[in-house]
Amino acid sequence: MKFVLVGPAARGGDSTLQAVRRAAEAGEIEYLGELDADGLRREYALAHVLLFPSVGEGMPRVMLEAGFAGLCPVAYDIPANKDLVRPGGGMLVPTGDLEGLAAAVAGLTADRDRITANARAFQRHVVAEFGMEAFVRRMDGIVASLRPDRAADGEGPTAAAAAPGIRPATPADLPAVVAAHSAAFPGFFLTRMGPRFLGAYYRMVLESPEGILLVAESAGAVAGFVAGIARPAAFYRAMMRRPWALGFPAMLRLVTRPRLLLDVAERVCRLGSSGHPQGHRGPSQARAKLASLAVLPSQRRLGLGRQLVAAFVAEAGLRQVAEVRLTTDAVDNQATHAFYESLGFSRSSDVLGTADRPLTEYTITTATSGTGAPPVERAA
Ligand SMILES: CC(C)(COP(=O)(O)OP(=O)(O)OC[C@H]1O[C@@H](n2cnc3c(N)ncnc32)[C@H](O)[C@@H]1OP(=O)(O)O)[C@@H](O)C(=O)NCCC(=O)NCCS
Repeated sequence: MKFVLVGPAARGGDSTLQAVRRAAEAGEIEYLGELDADGLRREYALAHVLLFPSVGEGMPRVMLEAGFAGLCPVAYDIPANKDLVRPGGGMLVPTGDLEGLAAAVAGLTADRDRITANARAFQRHVVAEFGMEAFVRRMDGIVASLRPDRAADGEGPTAAAAAPGIRPATPADLPAVVAAHSAAFPGFFLTRMGPRFLGAYYRMVLESPEGILLVAESAGAVAGFVAGIARPAAFYRAMMRRPWALGFPAMLRLVTRPRLLLDVAERVCRLGSSGHPQGHRGPSQARAKLASLAVLPSQRRLGLGRQLVAAFVAEAGLRQVAEVRLTTDAVDNQATHAFYESLGFSRSSDVLGTADRPLTEYTITTATSGTGAPPVERAA
């Protein structure tokens, strides 16, 4: 194992410089000082691990460089690093735990395959989040969010056109929608019903006049989708008139997975209790339901989820629906709660669902409520 220190150690003060010189003279490290871009590229290409013991960073550029160069990072768990290093994509140890850093490096040197696997995962994540394509998409999203008037100006047939890359789904998108759903909700009820059932379910949403199914495209492929119903009661009535459309694929699945019957029973109860009462509301008080939202894991934190939700809320507004609501797991689901809250949704109930699976309801008003405000705003 060889340690190479790069950078102007003098910045740490005289004592740091002396300590670095002593370590270099004792042969513990090789100290290269400050390098130009070519020198840095060369050293990154030679290294396998980035040991990054910094305790104060806003956006750690060294970590990003190491990610692009394919190194495995070992660093402190300061907030900036936590955003970059995911499980299996590098090692984080508690801030200030020098022995932990040493143990992490020692553990890695005994296992070259682990270094490679972590380095590859880190590189994939950094490229997806901070590569040029991601940067351009973020800029596009910012520009689009500054132009809430686009849909109203008639630049497109639906609100989805207000966001670049967001468009209404077509039947050809259904396999990709099913794949994105399965990747985002592993083990969930609808996923366990199997791809045929999911395909039939989303086809029903697509074909229903009450359904809203929008997809986000990235590099020509579906990277995520949002699905829901503008007027749930009318949708459920139509569903009951064509039960075989969902029933046959569902029945096929139930024959092979009988335990799903219990879940089906529970879902039917929930449908009956939360869907139908809305049928008594007048059109202007109707509440759209945002039923599912998913972005492929490799495409997350690029703004696609935000754009999909904004397009969904705008679409509901264009259809004269005053409010959009959704439910999500109440526990162990902080990231999703933070996501919807950052989009301006308000928590309207914490007492839905079952004792086993409590749900939180969120709502947001659409542009039809007469505020004249853009349909979805960032709270922060
Ligand atoms: C929830 C989900 C759709 C978000 O999609 P996304 O494209 O990653 O979201 P965005 O990039 O638009 O994020 C918008 C904001 O939400 C918040 N946010 C999103 N994911 C977050 C996370 N994991 N932790 C904390 N905040 C998060 C952030 O404020 C983020 O803005 P920022 O990146 O500028 O900080 C996506 O993570 C997903 O598919 N998850 C699995 C399925 C799911 O939980 N669906 C929602 C329940 S129906």
